[in-house]
Amino acid sequence: MTADPQVAPEVLAFYTETIDESERLTTSADGALELVRTQEILRPHLPPAPARILDVGGGPGIHAQWLVNDGYTVHVVDPVPRHIDQAAKTGATAELGDARKLTADDRSYDAVLLLGPLYHLLERADRDQALAEAARVVKPGGLIAAAAIGRYASLFEHVATTMLDIDRVKDAVVDILATGIHAPGRKGFTAAYFHTAPSLAEEMTAAGLHDVTVRGIEGPAWAVLKGTEQHTSESVRDTAMFRAALQAARLAEPYPELLSASSHMLALATAPRT
Ligand SMILES: C[S@@+](CC[C@H](N)C(=O)[O-])C[C@H]1O[C@@H](n2cnc3c(N)ncnc32)[C@H](O)[C@@H]1O
Repeated sequence: MTADPQVAPEVLAFYTETIDESERLTTSADGALELVRTQEILRPHLPPAPARILDVGGGPGIHAQWLVNDGYTVHVVDPVPRHIDQAAKTGATAELGDARKLTADDRSYDAVLLLGPLYHLLERADRDQALAEAARVVKPGGLIAAAAIGRYASLFEHVATTMLDIDRVKDAVVDILATGIHAPGRKGFTAAYFHTAPSLAEEMTAAGLHDVTVRGIEGPAWAVLKGTEQHTSESVRDTAMFRAALQAARLAEPYPELLSASSHMLALATAPRT
């Protein structure tokens, strides 16, 4: 059975025509930082392989690939047909679907990842529904990990790229800072929701999840990498600058005030045991 994804045409067009999401975490230094940090935050919380992991909004399967390599049994759900074709080549199984209406049985996965759907669900009720579905399909006590884009990420990004100089981009950033919502067409992304750390924790808790913690993924220096690559057209992936940014993300971990400096945050929680 396949759920009928109800995503906006602009989201389908963005991931089908505008960008190739399979390159985002592998070609840029800030993407590589996101990938390395996501792995090092998630791995200690995952159940031992070969547990069953549901990767909701798994896109082209960049995370599915390393999870499969680690020995997990991974199923990707995503509303973009191109992503399903790409994810199916990773060794995971893949299905067209929507985070708000999963086809999985109750309590059927050891862990559920939502590394993307919350960005694209602008209404609180839709995000609640996606988290409720994750809570429904995970086993009692199982891990739920949900990523969010930070409320202040656009501000840092567009300083580094100097696009804050462009009025339409500046206006988009002003709105995101004030409301958390990006209306499409003003900067290079779809309509999107940008969480603060407390709002992400609150949504996870309101979904009835336990042991909620929120971690900063990229730390405070990701925009330095992004700006440098943009202004020099050279990769800083294997440089001291990358290693310093990675170190900064690790050093920032104990300080909740610095959560807001990350481009993305990762909320970790467990499903109730009964
Ligand atoms: C920025 S990409 C992240 C992909 C991948 N999880 C990663 O972290 O690299 C966001 C993903 O969320 C998916 N998405 C958007 N709306 C969704 C929805 N309602 N349900 C499930 N996935 C959705 C998109 O198709 C896209 O693959």
